[in-house]
Amino acid sequence: MNIKRRALSFDDVLLVPQHSNIESRTSIDLSVDMHNISNLKTPIFSAPMDTVTEADMAISLAQKGGLGIVHRYNTPAEQQLIVGSVCEYFEDINTQGYKNIGVAVGVSGDYLMRAHLGYSSGARLICVDVAHGDHVLALNAVKSLRQKFGKTIHIMAGNVATLAGLNALADAGADSVRVGIGGGSICSTRIQTGHGVPTLQSVLDCARTDRDCLIIADGGLKTSGDIVKAIAAGADAVMLGSLLAGTSEAPGNTVFQDGRPFKTYRGMASVEAQIDWRGHAASEEGVSTVIPAKGPVTNILDGLVKGIRSGLSYSGSRNITEFQSKAEFVEITSSGMSESRTHILD
Ligand code: XMP
Repeated sequence: MNIKRRALSFDDVLLVPQHSNIESRTSIDLSVDMHNISNLKTPIFSAPMDTVTEADMAISLAQKGGLGIVHRYNTPAEQQLIVGSVCEYFEDINTQGYKNIGVAVGVSGDYLMRAHLGYSSGARLICVDVAHGDHVLALNAVKSLRQKFGKTIHIMAGNVATLAGLNALADAGADSVRVGIGGGSICSTRIQTGHGVPTLQSVLDCARTDRDCLIIADGGLKTSGDIVKAIAAGADAVMLGSLLAGTSEAPGNTVFQDGRPFKTYRGMASVEAQIDWRGHAASEEGVSTVIPAKGPVTNILDGLVKGIRSGLSYSGSRNITEFQSKAEFVEITSSGMSESRTHILD
């Protein structure tokens, strides 16, 4: 068996600055054309995790032009209640005149019921949410959702690490695919199983697809700079866990340690999450931790959007399509990375 090739991660590359005639970052358009639902104004999804997305997070994401996906680690009735309360919120105040909300489902058991309940409460994005999306059960779930709902819903599926995986899900009927296996901040899949591909490399590989399928870079995005790199590599949007966890809108109580506020952030395959949701742990592919509380998620989202706009401006690009056609990466050494980080305090 030969080693296939090198695989790059976010910290291995930088984007080369290019001539720009953009006078104001506000003129940069970050919108994403979605299939079958309203377009996004901001290319950000919040992860379907029980310490990231319930009603408050989904409302904030929709208000900022992104989209929150309600996790599936609850009963179908609880999940329906969350989706319903988000949709009612926008009906009530008609903020920006639209609501974009997603509902996560698995690939067996109650997944069709969850999809129906989510749909009947107003969700139009159904996310087939499994660790290994290039799997017969995931492909079958996407096919049956497409069969049942036709073009009335946007189907997101994943996760995959390869072009073949993305193409298979797209051929089954997925409108968008989450790309990235084992790169998440709370993931231990690569350590436990030896499998995975650095997320940036997976995005670069999947961007070669000829299918009409959106690429959602998922796992390991630590900064707005990483988001910019993911988009340059071919992602239409990103999915965020740790960057949004710990905010006031993330589910879970604030706990105090030495007088400072913290919130839990945990992988959905961590022992703690599995015991809470199914009573026992089948295998361990994630960790649970506490992170400092961050305050309102709108501050975090505003900061990320500013960074993304600046990123496009450095490549002289007014929108994501132009950026992807112009972007040029250089591979850097570890000394290049050290130079990139603020280092006066070292
Ligand atoms: P970040 O880096 O944004 O990653 O915190 C969030 C993404 O991580 C994935 N995820 C997991 N992957 N074990 C894994 O290997 C887990 O327990 C786990 N929980 C979440 C998921 O793709 C999420 O969007």
